[in-house]
Amino acid sequence: MADKAQQTIVVDGLALAQDIRKQLAEEVSQYASQGRRAPCLAVVLVGDDPASASYIKGKQRACSRVGMEAIEKLLPATASEQEVLQVVNDLNHNDAVDGILVQLPLPKAVSAYNVAAAIDPEKDVDALHPTTAGRLLLGEATELAACTPLGIMAILKHHGIEQEGANAVVIGRSNIVGKPVSLMLQRGNATVTMCHSRTRDLQSVCRQADILVAAVGVPRLVQADWIKPGAAVIDVGVSNVDGVLVGDVDTEGAMGIASIVTPHRRGVGPMTITMLLRNTLAAYRARTGA
Ligand code: GUN
Repeated sequence: MADKAQQTIVVDGLALAQDIRKQLAEEVSQYASQGRRAPCLAVVLVGDDPASASYIKGKQRACSRVGMEAIEKLLPATASEQEVLQVVNDLNHNDAVDGILVQLPLPKAVSAYNVAAAIDPEKDVDALHPTTAGRLLLGEATELAACTPLGIMAILKHHGIEQEGANAVVIGRSNIVGKPVSLMLQRGNATVTMCHSRTRDLQSVCRQADILVAAVGVPRLVQADWIKPGAAVIDVGVSNVDGVLVGDVDTEGAMGIASIVTPHRRGVGPMTITMLLRNTLAAYRARTGA
């Protein structure tokens, strides 16, 4: 049995996100009062996956609520890689566009790597261009960094979670979350273990974690007896189980064991979008000299 002696804080990612968005909105309105144009994010959707369509609507709504422009480029699922690259290229050359996000996943015929590599690094608000990702790997300063990992780091900071010397375990090795969050935690002087589907005795590895990040998309993989008492538990996964959205962590099970836990709704998600807005504003500033 897990030891349940801990007061667990359920992270209010939405409240934290709203605080940051308020600051971003103030900054955008100051630029407007100086007669400058609004920052602009372009989102590209290839195909008609309903989840992706809903995600990009959420991103566009978030932009307009802080006074930013959002434009959308829709391509059919049958679009060729060349056609997607042409859209990216046009957005690269559109001076009124500050950030470009191509929603993933892409249809099989289109290489996510080739598309990311085609984005102007100055507009790479998803931080998936090899130069942006490489700068993080090499420990160089980056104005733009991966949105979900940035959101996770902001949550850890807000809750005073010490990274220095901590054991951090990351489940999942995706380009968009697992790899960049591991590098950011390492940069924060945590000792990082990256786990994945072939990791042996995942439960024992997780039990060592002072900071546990689950970003693998396996419903309720992390159970109460996987969690070290006092650990900070960050749940990034969202799976649809019979029409119900479920995270990678058994949140109820984490109660009384973890120091903090992010719920699968109103946890990391609102922070990811907020960091996309932050990146778009950073790209705007760098591009326009505002
Ligand atoms: N699909 C799910 N999450 C993301 C994201 O953060 N960026 C992109 N481009 N696609 C996604």
